[in-house]
Amino acid sequence: MSLAVCPGSFDPITRGHLDIVRRASVLFEEVVVLVVINPDKHCAFTIDERCDMIRQATAGIPGVRVDSYYGLLADYVRAAGAAAIVKGLRAMSDFEYEFQMALTNKSLIPYAETVFLTTSVENMYVSSSLVRQVAGFGGNISDFVPRCLVKTIMKRLAPQPGEDGKTEAVSHEH
Ligand code: PNS
Repeated sequence: MSLAVCPGSFDPITRGHLDIVRRASVLFEEVVVLVVINPDKHCAFTIDERCDMIRQATAGIPGVRVDSYYGLLADYVRAAGAAAIVKGLRAMSDFEYEFQMALTNKSLIPYAETVFLTTSVENMYVSSSLVRQVAGFGGNISDFVPRCLVKTIMKRLAPQPGEDGKTEAVSHEH
């Protein structure tokens, strides 16, 4: 049984993440999408919210389950009996950090491989922080996140009617 772990913050899951999970599910019999808890990072969504959103987005993909975890990724991978860690690579700017993490994990758990999947062209620029920023100003995020999550994310992040100074675009030009 080949098992892979797809770790991340998923704050929130994007179309880019979903594409990677979907493609990983073709390569591995089972894929765990792992929401890694980082107490130093302030997240817009709680762990439960992030897991729920991933569950909704991945509901139709066979062999995918969702879990959350606080600790070293290598320890989770070992305990789960996973063969691989799957990550998406968008651009060269991702590479240095991802390379560093892959080598660290290789040292901690030598038999598990980090597998990088290149992101699809349409998702190259998509990131969770971009989604949070666009949604935070009430912009259209439907190209960036799974369709089933647009409303949930907007309800949570977009300025709601009645919030002072946030319902209309304000120009600061003089
Ligand atoms: O989506 P992100 O925030 O880029 O994901 C980073 C993540 C969660 C994969 C990484 O920070 C991680 O693996 N954290 C767990 C702690 C750990 O194992 N650190 C050493 C990894 S090299």
